[in-house]
Amino acid sequence: MKVIKTIAAMKRTRLKLPKLVGFVPTMGYLHEGHLELIRRAKAENPWTVASIFVNPRQFGPQEDYTSYPRNIPRDLAMLETVKTDIVFIPPTAEMYPPRYNTWVDIEKVTERLEGSIRPGHFRGVATVCTKLFNIVQPTKAYFGQKDAQQVIVIKRMVTDLNMNLEIIVAPTVREPDGLAMSSRNTYLKPDERQTAVVLYRALKLAQKLWSQGEQDVHRIRQAMTEMIKQEPLAEEITYISIADAKTLEELHKIEPPALVSLAVKIGRPRLIDNIILE
Ligand code: PAF
Repeated sequence: MKVIKTIAAMKRTRLKLPKLVGFVPTMGYLHEGHLELIRRAKAENPWTVASIFVNPRQFGPQEDYTSYPRNIPRDLAMLETVKTDIVFIPPTAEMYPPRYNTWVDIEKVTERLEGSIRPGHFRGVATVCTKLFNIVQPTKAYFGQKDAQQVIVIKRMVTDLNMNLEIIVAPTVREPDGLAMSSRNTYLKPDERQTAVVLYRALKLAQKLWSQGEQDVHRIRQAMTEMIKQEPLAEEITYISIADAKTLEELHKIEPPALVSLAVKIGRPRLIDNIILE
């Protein structure tokens, strides 16, 4: 496994690689969900590059940029186990040198859900992904369905800007009890960790009601809310959304494919999860 720590070295290396390269961008503190993306990339491409970069430009001023979990030696050991070919770890000062002034801004799909609570977040994600795609020049890039809105935003950007790569979306990887894997799960205290499974339980409830014939979004949302409110440690439901899976416009009556997504604050983190009804 080759570890590359400058943009220039990554560009030089890319010139020597064959055409087909799979790419898994990450912010590190890896978990099984990331490893699944690497395995998929390895299975589908002769070369796989993973990046580790905690992107300051996608965190709001009150968010956890400085305390975001970081452990490069641990990440490298995990990446070795799945035989990653190249790990790119760019320095922040190279990614955003003084006078850095260019942004990629996607309208509409960034205005809802996470975008409405985290102003500027998707601008930061789209900007860093564009930079990473330009440096690594992958033919396929892999993202997890766990960040459903991020996937929609990145796909929109790739289409709108005629970027030369395919976005592959892999299913959310879950703990045995159903909690979606996330680097931020490390913030949960043991009793909060137990509570956190309520997000998945609420999504499963929505799926069950729909499969039993319920189409009224208001009633499904109500049932999910009641289930979550029974959990004293689920402090705050930021949103429960049932929306068109492509445009993210809220639905009144379920028309598949519909994205059921929610964000709930449990202890320190605000956890997100989703399922698609199709
Ligand atoms: O999903 C993430 O980990 C990040 O948003 C990404 C895509 C690596 C961009 O910083």
